[in-house]
Amino acid sequence: MTLEPVNLSEALASFDDVYSPRIVARMNDYDVRIAHARGEHVWHVHDDTDEFFLVLEGGFDIALRDADGTERMVQLRKGDTFVVPKGVEHKPSSEGGSILMFEPSGTLTTGDRFTGEVPDHVDSTVGHEL
Ligand code: NI
Repeated sequence: MTLEPVNLSEALASFDDVYSPRIVARMNDYDVRIAHARGEHVWHVHDDTDEFFLVLEGGFDIALRDADGTERMVQLRKGDTFVVPKGVEHKPSSEGGSILMFEPSGTLTTGDRFTGEVPDHVDSTVGHEL
């Protein structure tokens, strides 16, 4: 736990990996994480938690799949926020961007369940230290 401020621009510039979140802050039992995004993530679901996204740079899309299999896409740009509700299958993708996420510590990037294989460019992690 640091008592120093964290600058998000500097934090984002300190690593290049995509879909490999860094934890910039912890608040109660939640993490504030940032990540670079490029390419397709994997369909996954968080059974017990919502997941908050804020787009810091570029664009970030989230495909959502309803219980009946219907899919839709939300397209987010810098400054947009969105919450994926718990239990909703989702797959992020991006042509390039960076995001901030807010979710309980220990939440896996690939959820409690995922579909298919995790691509090489997706880190299945609970987040890394900055
Ligand atoms: Ni997720």
